[in-house]
Amino acid sequence: MNKIVVGSRNSGKIREIQAVLADLPYCVTGLSDQTIPDAEETGTTFQENAILKARYYCQHTGEYCLADDSGLEVDALDGAPGVYSARYAGEQASDEENNQKLLSALTGIPMQRRTARFRSVLALAGPDGSLMLAEGVCEGIVLFEARGTGGFGYDPLFLMPDQRKTLAEMTLAEKNLVSHRGNALRAFKQQLVQAAKEG
Ligand code: IMP
Repeated sequence: MNKIVVGSRNSGKIREIQAVLADLPYCVTGLSDQTIPDAEETGTTFQENAILKARYYCQHTGEYCLADDSGLEVDALDGAPGVYSARYAGEQASDEENNQKLLSALTGIPMQRRTARFRSVLALAGPDGSLMLAEGVCEGIVLFEARGTGGFGYDPLFLMPDQRKTLAEMTLAEKNLVSHRGNALRAFKQQLVQAAKEG
């Protein structure tokens, strides 16, 4: 393997993944073939969806494909929006619409009960049928209003108390140091390096 295709059309995700994997001896690219239809995310867990996407894009490209399935789990909402984070406010919802829906759902919930976590599950599927999985989380609090312009998705609403910043107030490098995806990618990298050693 010398190339890894990131099975996603989310440029925010792709940038974060490329940054953490930059020191590996692999070329990490996005999906260059725009004619491949989007994978259908029919799973009910992050792991199911990550595996389904990685295998789907691997089949279509013939390359090793890395997929991330991720989302926000809000305690006061019993873990919602969870795997439905991207389509919380509807099938084609924008980040802005999803953020508005989240704020509405949390109306009247005080700061101490607005705890939440981002979760990311990564799956790497190979043309030889191989599969590698890794997971990462990051804990934080859903604010009452958006702060910051970086990142994507729910980043402007997600405060990391130790850093006193939302994920949208961080640079890409700062976010990767603390984020669910950064944590998942570091776990993934360790496995990849180990597997390469074992040949
Ligand atoms: P997926 O593409 O089905 O994995 O959906 C991921 C969705 O979860 C995104 O569209 C965002 O709404 C949310 N999400 C996942 N990771 C992040 C992140 O790093 N920041 C903000 N929102 C995220």
